[in-house]
Amino acid sequence: MPDAAPSPARFATPINASVPLARPGEFRPLVLRDLAIWPPVVLAPMAGVTNYPFRAMCREQGAGLYVSEMITARGYLNGNRLTHLLASSRADETPRSVQIYGTEPKDVAEMARALVDQGVHHLDMNFGCPVPKVTRNGGGSAIPLKPKLLARIVRAGVEGAGRVPFTIKVRMGIDDTLITYLDAGRVAEEEGAAAIGLHSRTAAQLYSGEARWDAIGRLKQHVSIPVLGNGDVWECFDALRMMRTTGCDAVIVGRGCLGRPWLFRELADVFDGREPAPPPKLGAIVAIMTDHARRLCEFFGPDTGMRQMRKWCAWYTKGFRGSSAVREELVRVTTIEAMLQALAKLDVDEPFPLSGLRAHRGKAGRAQEKVALPQGYLEHLDDDTPPCGALADDDSGLEDALNGG
Ligand SMILES: Cc1cc2nc3c(=O)[nH]c(=O)nc-3n(C[C@H](O)[C@H](O)[C@H](O)COP(=O)(O)O)c2cc1C
Repeated sequence: MPDAAPSPARFATPINASVPLARPGEFRPLVLRDLAIWPPVVLAPMAGVTNYPFRAMCREQGAGLYVSEMITARGYLNGNRLTHLLASSRADETPRSVQIYGTEPKDVAEMARALVDQGVHHLDMNFGCPVPKVTRNGGGSAIPLKPKLLARIVRAGVEGAGRVPFTIKVRMGIDDTLITYLDAGRVAEEEGAAAIGLHSRTAAQLYSGEARWDAIGRLKQHVSIPVLGNGDVWECFDALRMMRTTGCDAVIVGRGCLGRPWLFRELADVFDGREPAPPPKLGAIVAIMTDHARRLCEFFGPDTGMRQMRKWCAWYTKGFRGSSAVREELVRVTTIEAMLQALAKLDVDEPFPLSGLRAHRGKAGRAQEKVALPQGYLEHLDDDTPPCGALADDDSGLEDALNGG
């Protein structure tokens, strides 16, 4: 059968102008034990972002798996109120997915059991956090440097999760001299993880440069469990390109959906072989923003809800004419009415700007020169002792502060 030809009116940057739509049967659902996910698309865990309100908005647009932001095991087990709110969901969310952050195997097992008891359908674990505060204490992306420690934590999580699929998410390594993802893949497979997600950058890179999709392809060759590719899916067609060039089993979509929840509708379209409709005009985006603000206020309360909404205002309006002047107002708004007043200065008929498709939201910028590790860390890579103090204490709101993966 010939490739489904792209429509001449496709709204895409040149790199994606002629990417064929998915052919029937070309891709399969992502299978995580008893869960079959179609399209093979996963909303990336993002601290301060993938709370229930945003997950619900994305899910209403499309389909796939929508992962919570990382939830620290200690905060959760200590009954921290904010941590529990961030881990929470509503009856309409299925499948329900939570990402755990922790370094102590018994905490991870206990948290996994508690979440499964609450009806969670999928658990992921974050081993990619590049933030100095975390890696300096041997947490986050420092853990895969110690395969035996990684194995202990994954084993504990898999045991705690029981029948529920437990996956892990890693970066390529610390830097180009300390690459860990292939070993992490082997450990994940040996310890019974249902899949491994790879953000194809090193911790040193943070969010700079281009994601290195070739590493996703190498990981796919290396393991027999499903591989979830991650990094730089900005347009729905990037997801098809990533799947085709790497052979990965699903894509994880991060910053591309910030202020663009309709990206999930577009993803559902292209995986089902349909040409997606162009993105909404500014007027329709204002309606989406109003809905988003209401949901955040209902979930967090009006003050925190509007504070949270400010960063979303910047993301939703990125690239529109005159939006930078209005954004100065938007980053201070305290009510939905004030938000709408500021937005009223823009032209509701303005179409979504092509430049907005790959404009970085959330994070961009520079690499870190050196990834902080505990003193003498590299001399004991065979050690399986959990790091002490790696965010082990009560960590209210830490998820939001860390933003890491
Ligand atoms: C604001 C923000 C918060 C993030 N928080 C987490 C997190 O809690 N857990 C995690 O594993 N990764 C986290 N990440 C990393 C993303 O999950 C993803 O790996 C990364 O953004 C690369 O994908 P992208 O190029 O599609 O954005 C975060 C990223 C951003 C931008």
